[in-house]
Amino acid sequence: MKRVYLIVLDSLGIGEEPDAALFKDHDCNTLKRISGSDKFRFSSMKDMGMGNIDGQDYLPAAKKTLAAVARLQERSMGKDTTIGHWEIAGVVSPSPLPTYPDGFPEEIINEFKEKTGRGVLCNKPYSGTQVIADYGEEHLKTGDLIVYTSADSVFQIAAHVDKVPLDTLYEYCRIARKILKGKHAVGRVIARPFTGEPGNFTRTSDRHDFSLVPPKATLLDALKADGKTVYAVGKINDIFAGQGVTEHIMTHGNTEGMAVALSALDKEFEGLCFVNLVDFDMLYGHRQDVDGYAAAFAEFDSWLPSFTAKMKKDDVLIITADHGCDPGDSHTDHSREYVPMIMYGKNITPVNLGTRHGFCDIAATVAEYLDCGYKGDGESFLPCVIKPTDTEKALCKAAAEAMLKSYSPYSTYSVGAALLCSDGKIYTGCNIENAAFSPTVCAERTAMFKAVSEGERDFRMLAVCGGKDKKISGLFPPCGVCRQVLTEFCSPDMPVLLMKSKSAFEKKKLCELLPGSFTPAYIKKK
Ligand code: THU
Repeated sequence: MKRVYLIVLDSLGIGEEPDAALFKDHDCNTLKRISGSDKFRFSSMKDMGMGNIDGQDYLPAAKKTLAAVARLQERSMGKDTTIGHWEIAGVVSPSPLPTYPDGFPEEIINEFKEKTGRGVLCNKPYSGTQVIADYGEEHLKTGDLIVYTSADSVFQIAAHVDKVPLDTLYEYCRIARKILKGKHAVGRVIARPFTGEPGNFTRTSDRHDFSLVPPKATLLDALKADGKTVYAVGKINDIFAGQGVTEHIMTHGNTEGMAVALSALDKEFEGLCFVNLVDFDMLYGHRQDVDGYAAAFAEFDSWLPSFTAKMKKDDVLIITADHGCDPGDSHTDHSREYVPMIMYGKNITPVNLGTRHGFCDIAATVAEYLDCGYKGDGESFLPCVIKPTDTEKALCKAAAEAMLKSYSPYSTYSVGAALLCSDGKIYTGCNIENAAFSPTVCAERTAMFKAVSEGERDFRMLAVCGGKDKKISGLFPPCGVCRQVLTEFCSPDMPVLLMKSKSAFEKKKLCELLPGSFTPAYIKKK
């Protein structure tokens, strides 16, 4: 039962990206900023290897890290929550979601007025509490809707519950959601109901977000289609407009989010538990509260060991972020920053992957770990971090031993292969050369023919190694003829371990080695 726990520390950037100036950011580094606070605690995250990530030289590095780590650069042209999460889930957005520092254009407002039959007040960026104080009375008199935005890509509609019933307000939001398409596809339309008397208006807790649907299939959709669980915790369900989510729970704040994540370790499922911890961004980043941010990080740092202690053998934890929000830089908005990637589990080798281009590599990696065909816009780094299983180790050992028996006086290249059958037996083979050259048989076919002539027909995995003078010297991939012979008997999904050394290998599926191959099915069809 493989479970991946993907935790987004909302806005925990780790240093400005090379194109930060395009986003009006400079000198931003959220993690560095909070590391200067007295409230900062860096213990379990240090052990994980957060201080070993590229560019984090202001933090102590661990001598031996517990996790695989990387610094990830955003490929999407944005620095908001929605685009950041979509990229983590495999989808790169080439342009940012639209923002409206001067209010929404006339064509949008006119269509909205026409379809709701109501007038519009405000239409500019505004603070949510101030906007009802300033426009609430006029709204009560006229019934016009208060439309406002912020530095984020949002279309917000405030209305008094006595003037506009909640269901009607939600319906107006759906109308706005339909209008805001194409270049005006804002990230969220938000219903902001309020109550009370003039001079004393307050917002109710019935805020509701109508999010933009991701532009194409994400990791979540692929996992759901595969019958796996996608458990969304906190804002995640909203960010994906519910797409690809099989279960969700809204949480209020980091403490509750962490508690839910911990209890999700008691759940029986195969798939993804995707958690967003929102306080870092909402309560501390935007409000420029360095000490508050540092204290929230300290809380996470001390909570983490309770989580890792409960993880089972095949569980994987990935900690990352969706953008930065440096609480000490020149503005209250998000910042264009690299994010950390920390991957921990019993099956994961603690390696430092350096800097990688794309948050979307996380989606490709999670998909591969969960045996789901999805790749998205990223590249999986799973082969660099996954520990070999006992079966893989045994097969590599058998291939390396078979290589020593190679008969290759003409090329002096020795090749070894080991083929695992469904009954657990391993058949090995080496290359056998011939003075007449062409009768030479490759190692893979030797192993295959030995197995088939013993009655075997069902194969599970192949390991191949080769090199000059009986030493493994990097990849030695099967030749075309061997690929064709394997295709005759093995499933297209059968893993082939291309050994780089006695213990390291690159894992490919047979269908990747010989795509579009001529299989027995073509003959049977005729
Ligand atoms: N060889 C294999 O054993 N397997 C392959 O798939 C590629 C090539 C052997 C054949 C020959 O003995 C030597 O490598 C050099 O071509």
